[in-house]
Amino acid sequence: MKKVYIDTMGCQMNKSDTERMLGMLSHFDYEETKTPEDAELLMVNTCSIRQLSEDKAFSAVGTWGKWKKEFGKNIKIGFCGCVAQQKAQEIFKRAPYVDFVLGTHKIYALPEIIKRIENGERVCECTETNQTEDDKAKDFEIQRVKGVGAWIPITEGCNNFCTYCIVPYTRGRERSREPEIIIKEAKDALASGYKEITLLGQNVDSYGKDFVAKPLSDCSTNLNDNSKFENYRLAQLLRDLNALDGNFRIRFVTSYPTDITDELIQTVVELDKVCEYFHIPMQSGSTPVLKAMNRRYTREEYAKIVQKIRNMVPDVTITSDFIAGFPGETEEQFVETLTAIDEFELDYSNVAAYSPREKTVAAKWVDKFIPEDIKEERFQRLNKKIQENCLKSNKKYVGREMEVLVENFYEHKGQMVNTGKTRNFKTVHIPCEKDLTGKFVNVKITEAKTWYVKGELIG
Ligand code: SAH
Ligand code: SF4
Ligand code: F3S
Repeated sequence: MKKVYIDTMGCQMNKSDTERMLGMLSHFDYEETKTPEDAELLMVNTCSIRQLSEDKAFSAVGTWGKWKKEFGKNIKIGFCGCVAQQKAQEIFKRAPYVDFVLGTHKIYALPEIIKRIENGERVCECTETNQTEDDKAKDFEIQRVKGVGAWIPITEGCNNFCTYCIVPYTRGRERSREPEIIIKEAKDALASGYKEITLLGQNVDSYGKDFVAKPLSDCSTNLNDNSKFENYRLAQLLRDLNALDGNFRIRFVTSYPTDITDELIQTVVELDKVCEYFHIPMQSGSTPVLKAMNRRYTREEYAKIVQKIRNMVPDVTITSDFIAGFPGETEEQFVETLTAIDEFELDYSNVAAYSPREKTVAAKWVDKFIPEDIKEERFQRLNKKIQENCLKSNKKYVGREMEVLVENFYEHKGQMVNTGKTRNFKTVHIPCEKDLTGKFVNVKITEAKTWYVKGELIG
């Protein structure tokens, strides 16, 4: 067997792509190694959400390029993922030691690419398609990361074009996968022992919106005619997955605020396997900033959605994403983000300082850019607020009995602990000598920390 090393740099969708690529490569005599020095094939699966993530990708391949050029090591280098999709041929200019560039739309071209590069060719495969690649994927099983949870992409791409965001350019238009294929992947994952299924999508709650019949006048061949699933949406998919046999959990990320329907919230309430957790990025607490971002809701509309979920779903955890220092953001507008976190009792949020991205609308508003030191200061204040709220949210559960799905077992400060998640996505540390990984256990929450709670086993 030859050895392949993949450095996976992006979101869960990007990680899921790596699992698919490893699955394919295993058919061509490649097995994964975690040590780059041992690999004959080295790949980066890149993310371009911020400049920093893009820079990391070039720096990783730069090191491997040296091994090849300066030390004459016989290796092949692949540049994949979102930066590849965005920059295509340009990558060869900047990193001439790269053997192939593979975008996000054509990952199932990998076997063909491997054959060609082994014959000494250089290959760039980055054409945008409007189809899911499920037909070609049928022949390859997925080599999932070992663990308790399995990711299943259900919809890829984005039609929203928020003014700061590169994703519509790196993932293309929204494409939903057929229900049968998703259900089969879920069954396979459960049969292999996974205890949690996480459905993935850039906007997971838009699932199925593209299941429309082609108008008769439309003779384009690049659209799937998925009209037979016309009314099939995320809520229905959750019902079908919930009906599968076994004791397991279902989650879905990421939700776009205004695509969360009452029906979807109701399914979370009713279905026993679907967990009480929503990740709903707000991005800013200020309506004018939201407008400049091309987000399709106001502060008040976001508040209403969160309130409705809280009223309907007991113990629900709601997490969010925010951007600090969007072009033109005033101090007052920034403070509205801080107050939103408090007012809507957001349990946890990811924060990023605004990073201008090539091709996006906001990147052209150079005269409105916020100086780096102010962005950094806002980033720090946001993080502080998030920490406070996280601790406050964790404290609510002290004294409560909760079900935990154990994910890990390791030594922590001289003591063996099991760590896992509650249904509502709280991380729990359970001191215990026995490895309970993969088991559902009941615990009593004894103490709240900022990023996790402590619990003791019941019974
Ligand atoms: N589809 C999701 C988010 C996907 S991108 C949504 O609409 O909410 C993940 C996160 O990266 C975003 O929520 C945003 O907070 C952050 N992000 C995207 N582009 C960014 C940029 N140019 N600078 C800083 N953060 C960015
Ligand atoms: Fe990016 Fe906006 Fe699409 Fe989310 S909805 S992926 S932030 S363009
Ligand atoms: Fe990054 Fe691409 Fe995911 S830009 S966040 S790896 S969709």
